[in-house]
Formats: sequence, C-alpha cells, structure tokens
Amino acid sequence: MLKQYKVWDAPTRVFHWVNFVSVILLILVGTLMLYKKDLGIVSLDAKIAIKELHVVIGYVFVLNLMIRLIWGFIGNRFARWSAILPGAGFGNTVSAYIASIRRGEPQQFLGHNPLGRLAVVFMMLLLMSQAVTGLIRAGTDVYYPPFGSIFAAQVAADGVDPATIKPYDKTGTDATKYKALKEFKHIYGEVHYYTFFVLLAMILLHIFVVVRAEITEGEGLVSAMFSGRKILSKEPEDIHDGTR
Ligand code: HEM
Repeated sequence: MLKQYKVWDAPTRVFHWVNFVSVILLILVGTLMLYKKDLGIVSLDAKIAIKELHVVIGYVFVLNLMIRLIWGFIGNRFARWSAILPGAGFGNTVSAYIASIRRGEPQQFLGHNPLGRLAVVFMMLLLMSQAVTGLIRAGTDVYYPPFGSIFAAQVAADGVDPATIKPYDKTGTDATKYKALKEFKHIYGEVHYYTFFVLLAMILLHIFVVVRAEITEGEGLVSAMFSGRKILSKEPEDIHDGTR
C-alpha cells in the first residue's frame, strides 16, 4: 500500500539543488587550481582569474548555506535542526534502524533516516569548514571580501593605500608583514585542501546511497528532492514526531 507524503519544503529543495550545482562547480574549478601546472596554466593572470572565479562561485555557495542554516530554525518540521541533529535516545534509534535493515525490512521515515541524519550533519560541518576557510583564503590570496580589505591593510607598508595592493604582487607591501600573512594563511589552505577530499568521498557515498535506496527501496528519495513528496509503503517511524 503506497502512500504519498509532503516532506521537503520549497526552500529546502532550492538549497539542495543550488548547493549541489555550486559544490560541483567549486570542485571542478578547485581541481583546475590543483592541477593547473599539468594543464599548462602558467600565467599569473590566468591563475588569479581561476581563483577569482572559484571565489565568486563560493559566494553563491556560502550565501545558500547561510540561508539553509537559518532555515533549520524556521522551516517545516523536516527541515529543522531539531529533526536532524542527534538528540536524546539517538543511539537506540540508530540501532533499531540498523536491525531493521539486517532483517531485510528497513524502517521508513518521512524525514531523513537515522544514518542519513548523521551523514547530513557531517556534510554540513564539512561545507561550513569549506565556507570559513575559503572566505579567509579569498581575503588572504586575492583580497576579496569579507576579509580582503583587512588583510590588505595588514600587509601594506607604512603610508601605502591598502586598496592599491594587488594579489601575488609584493609592490607596496611590508616584507615582514607579508611573510606573517603567508604563515597565517597556510593552515586555512591545508584545512580547505584536506576537507575537499573528505567532502568528495562523502558526496560520492551520498549519491551512491540515495540512488541505491531509490532503486531498491522505492522510497523515491531522489524524486522527493524535486517534488517534495515521498512515497512510502509502510507507516513511517517518525509520523507522530513533532520534533525529534
Ligand atoms: C564545497 C565547497 C568548496 C570546495 C569543494 C572547494 C575546493 C577547493 C579546492 C580543491 C581548492 C584547491 C586547493 C589548493 O590549491 O590547495 C580550493 C582552493 C581555494 N578555495 Fe575553495 N572550495 C570550496 C569552497 C570555497 C569557498 C566558499 C571559497 C570562498 C568564497 C573558496 C575559496 C578558495 C580559495 C581562495 C582557494 C585558493 C587557496 C589555496 O590555494 O589554498 N573555496 N578550493
């Protein structure tokens, strides 16, 4: 007996697909940055232009992420952090879900299943890390907002207008301050770089799991992110939950 439920509200769906497209573009441009030498991109102007393109896409990504973080407090009950973040009794919920999979009768949920909730939380943390470290590096590398003017003012030599400081050009900078900024920015680049690979692995896992669930369990997880509606064959475990 199949029953259809309205689950994902429009802002959650818009977030999901804007996030999907912007992250894919960031991955593509980021990969271009990583392998620029192998791809024959050697001119400084081209390197800076690619970085600037990455940052501009990054702004769309960050804005979308910030809206989603806020929507988690005002959206419908499935969009809320209270339904996603693990709370009291979560361990039992996970065990019951895993046991139901082992029995070959997986429990069904209107919102995310318990393992999906863990995956969402982990991916959100990775995305937030990329957002923060990316914005800092946008400031230190190409002097772009929101921190660029602060970093330009930090490296400018005495009496030099920070607005005249150009990326990858030491003209007008103070050598000691320039070196200090280089040391400061290093760790953010490292975190951005390693998080990229973890995120990539999570994205591949996420796509594999939802497509597999769509095919084998017929819950319509992928289609639900377009239509907002899930089609379930049994009573969902979270049907009576106000918040979880
Ligand atoms: C899911 C989101 C993102 C992914 C997957 C991603 C991916 C990458 C990758 C692969 C690199 C190359 C790393 C390297 O050259 O060492 C990179 C560098 C960079 N990213 Fe992102 N990025 C993301 C978000 C952002 C955002 C939101 C911004 C800023 C608005 C940003 C700004 C930068 C900057 C300035 C660099 C150059 C810094 C460096 O060379 O280490 N990124 N990113």
